[in-house]
Amino acid sequence: MLDPSAGEIRDWGNSVVQSMAEYLGGLRDRNVYRQMSSREIREQLDPAFPSKGSDFNGLLKVFRETIVPFSRQNAHPRMFGYVQSPGTALAAFADLLASTLNANLTVWRSAPAPVELERLTIDWIRQILGFNAEAGGIFVSGGSMANFTAIAAARQTKADALRRLRIYASSETHFSIAKAAALLGIGRENVRHVDVDKRFRIQTDDLVARITDDLKAGHVPFCVVANAGTVNTGAVDPLTDLREIADRFQLWMHVDGSYGAFAVLAKSAKKLFAGVEQADSIALDPHKWLYLPVDVGCVIYRDPERARAAFAHEAEYTRVIGEKADEAFAFWDYGPELSRRFRALKVWMLLKGVGLDALGEAIEINIACARHLESLVKTSDDFEMVAPVELSIFCIRHVPAQMKGASPEEIDAFNERLLVALQRDGSSYLSNATLDGRFALRGCVLNYRTTLRDMEILLDDLRRVARKVTNDE
Ligand SMILES: Cc1ncc(COP(=O)(O)O)c(C=O)c1O
Repeated sequence: MLDPSAGEIRDWGNSVVQSMAEYLGGLRDRNVYRQMSSREIREQLDPAFPSKGSDFNGLLKVFRETIVPFSRQNAHPRMFGYVQSPGTALAAFADLLASTLNANLTVWRSAPAPVELERLTIDWIRQILGFNAEAGGIFVSGGSMANFTAIAAARQTKADALRRLRIYASSETHFSIAKAAALLGIGRENVRHVDVDKRFRIQTDDLVARITDDLKAGHVPFCVVANAGTVNTGAVDPLTDLREIADRFQLWMHVDGSYGAFAVLAKSAKKLFAGVEQADSIALDPHKWLYLPVDVGCVIYRDPERARAAFAHEAEYTRVIGEKADEAFAFWDYGPELSRRFRALKVWMLLKGVGLDALGEAIEINIACARHLESLVKTSDDFEMVAPVELSIFCIRHVPAQMKGASPEEIDAFNERLLVALQRDGSSYLSNATLDGRFALRGCVLNYRTTLRDMEILLDDLRRVARKVTNDE
């Protein structure tokens, strides 16, 4: 098992590819989710300490018969929860090949061609966003790590400050920013949450007021975070205005584009991202709206040399000896990790294999699906929009005839019960958001398999499950 022959590898591979084709081919016939318990799953897993090995077919059987059915089917066209990409067969093959080569992308000489591939792919992403030619970056595990990495670079610009550093972001900002501030020793309490407008975008007058107050109190503002697609509603902050404010107060401008920034590839959304290329850094998640399987996030710096100041760490065991500038390149100078897997292969295969035009069209269809749902909701008498659709996220509430006249608390409680019942039912899957203190059913269209018809099925599923919920009460 440790070192199979070429024939065994072929046999295992054939069985794996067979399982994969069956799984992906039959996705629509599955439920997105099923009711299950931790105990039920544990009972199916052999807990015996694995002192002796077992054969490959036995391992694959556990994957097929236990792991797959007891998983949430993230590739299903009606998986609308969170910000979940479906993955692609192409990228699954890329991951297999990347692990086969087992390249470790620390520095150029460790993995020459994989490093060049990462640099090329990062450069394509730079061009997608419109950054200047000097901009550069790295792949990391995801959006949280990309935000962490960028905030670490931003903090370095005021590294000598003896007083309290302050960072500004709208109240709709993903919690990974506060987490980064906590982990970097800036402190959660020094993340100043700025008010949002009716479309959940940062209010720039409130931002300026908070920065001004902090300066008067002797604090050191160092960074403003702009959202390019908030996790709750997909709101895009006014990026050009935030750049101007950042310049006025000498702040680093970081954009969290983990969910939304690749929507710049969709013609109808492109204008929302005007000015993004002026940010000092941006976090993006190819494992969200480039449909790739986890894990691959990305951080781009407008001026990578400023980021280098935060990460370069000279040590004798990492010293690059006798190399020219291009070959002396070290990723560890631009982020927190040393050993890094070959994430670039799946990004490269996707971009090169599918092409940006087709990806842009798929993103456009996702946005059209969310807009279709919005128009269905607006013309219905039993659903309400809770927030406008900005990209592909929708937030709605179900108010069937028997709930008319109920209090906001009762309607929220009903929708909460409906969400749990919908998830257990399994035909469609939503998650939730709290907006202006009220509960919302929240969905995000992030799958190239999802069609306008799926949006209609979702509303029908909600109505059907709601009837069961009310009958059971
Ligand atoms: C806006 C935003 N930022 C950051 C993140 C965190 O990304 P990750 O889950 O890849 O760490 C998310 C995740 O949904 C997000 O929507």
